[in-house]
Amino acid sequence: MGLSHNPVLLNSVIEGLNIIPNGTYIDCTFGRGGHSKNILEKIGNEGKLIAIDKDGEAESYAISNFTNDKRFYFERNNFSNIKHIIEKYNNSQKVNGILLDLGVSSPQLDNPKRGFSFMKEGPIDMRMDTSSHMTALLWLQEANVNEISDVLKQYGEEKYSRRIAKLIKKSLESDSLKTTIDLSKLINKCYPKSESRKKNTATRSFQAIRIFINKELEELEKILEDILALVEKGGRIVIISFHSLEDRIVKNFINKHSDGKNIISKLPIANLNKNLSLKKIKLPLKASEVEIKKNIRARSARIRVAEKI
Ligand SMILES: C[S@@+](CC[C@H](N)C(=O)[O-])C[C@H]1O[C@@H](n2cnc3c(N)ncnc32)[C@H](O)[C@@H]1O
Repeated sequence: MGLSHNPVLLNSVIEGLNIIPNGTYIDCTFGRGGHSKNILEKIGNEGKLIAIDKDGEAESYAISNFTNDKRFYFERNNFSNIKHIIEKYNNSQKVNGILLDLGVSSPQLDNPKRGFSFMKEGPIDMRMDTSSHMTALLWLQEANVNEISDVLKQYGEEKYSRRIAKLIKKSLESDSLKTTIDLSKLINKCYPKSESRKKNTATRSFQAIRIFINKELEELEKILEDILALVEKGGRIVIISFHSLEDRIVKNFINKHSDGKNIISKLPIANLNKNLSLKKIKLPLKASEVEIKKNIRARSARIRVAEKI
């Protein structure tokens, strides 16, 4: 997650991508282009950067600030459509590097109208793509207690998921759940007194609803299915994740295609699978203390890098 002037794990991203000047790179999560800007500084006149984001505000920002650069292309789309995007902008030719900086951007989180923050009053929206139909509130209205509780448990590991789900439905019936602050107060009420003094009791539920509404894990799984076939030999895949559910998917994917351990059986899989297509590139997994001091959102970031072989 990065501010445009302070993208998360920038040095590791640039080192991880191992940029060649005339290469073609894809920034799947443009945001405000913090990483894109630095990639453009590294590629030469023959290089190309294709950026993707599903957020209309990210698109407007890209058009105003980046599209003068003839090496830059922007597509408002889900990154899981990467294959078609590469067909469109790179004549179906493979690329030299793909970057994913997952999750919500700082501008999304900081704008109360987007409804991502439990500390700022706004509509219960949480859509990254505001042209999509399903807001968080609409989903809470349509879903039943079991469905809400499952989402809170599965994507937020929320231990009071059922209690919260019940109170959400009750509050919707009495028309007393309208804003993000209503929702965050409601969640806090479901915690026992000893725990409810903590300010961040709503963190897990907000995260869970956001992941569900934006199909974040499905999007990640879908792009990983295609990604291997889209990268040139020697090209790099760099993925930054912000919570354990995402990181587990990324780690399993890299292990499965490199000589890592098979997570499930704990057995080395190198000898079982001779057609390995990735090599793990070792970089520090987490941001340094210095970086975390400068940008608190780097605290939960994890970066994984792999090279196509
Ligand atoms: C953490 S921010 C990226 C910040 C960016 N690296 C920067 O330096 O400004 C993630 C961005 O990815 C976008 N995004 C998340 N999931 C997406 C998906 N499945 N398809 C397209 N864009 C997505 C979000 O809208 C958000 O703008």
